[in-house]
Amino acid sequence: MYDSKTYWNNRPNPNKGTKPENIDARHIPPFLVGARSVVEFGPGVGRMYQFYKGLNVTGIDFAKQYEDAATQSAIAAGVSMYTHRIHDVHEKPTPYKDNQFEKGLLIKVLLHAPHFEAVRILKEVGRIAEEVLVITYGGTQDGLAQHCFVHDYEELLEDVGATVHEFKTEGNQVVFKYSIK
Ligand SMILES: C[S@@+](CC[C@H](N)C(=O)[O-])C[C@H]1O[C@@H](n2cnc3c(N)ncnc32)[C@H](O)[C@@H]1O
Repeated sequence: MYDSKTYWNNRPNPNKGTKPENIDARHIPPFLVGARSVVEFGPGVGRMYQFYKGLNVTGIDFAKQYEDAATQSAIAAGVSMYTHRIHDVHEKPTPYKDNQFEKGLLIKVLLHAPHFEAVRILKEVGRIAEEVLVITYGGTQDGLAQHCFVHDYEELLEDVGATVHEFKTEGNQVVFKYSIK
């Protein structure tokens, strides 16, 4: 049976591309305007960190092997303060307070989470961040690899009791913002 933690702790490169995609560049900077504290859940090697210059950033990932590269990306990007946490939300909640971070980001992570894991991630990031931006695959299951999952995101958001601020489909991607009170 597929085990996401084993998969990501053994996959050498977390992404096919080394740079953010256009969709990331369009949505992440406007989402972060005025923010100081940011948590990215599932940052991999910190491909998105170039958008976080001057911010206090926490990266949370369950793959230990990306830690050094993510920390280097944070330094190269000029983040103001960086914390990297190796954590598995299946074992326990993260040690952060409710709404400890102004902004949360979940970029290309939920595509790789089986249903029960996607629920847990959405809830936990919604708990520790005031508002969360999600960019993920919203297409069909056809031809997808074993480590990829299609979700009905509107249903998932309802299941976790989220307030949805914006929900868009762009090609085969979905982009949404939510919060959980
Ligand atoms: C495809 S990579 C995306 C990396 C980055 N967000 C980006 O877009 O460049 C998925 C990342 O999410 C992490 N991840 C997936 N499921 C996770 C979970 N349940 N808990 C923590 N990290 C997870 C993986 O280890 C990997 O680093």
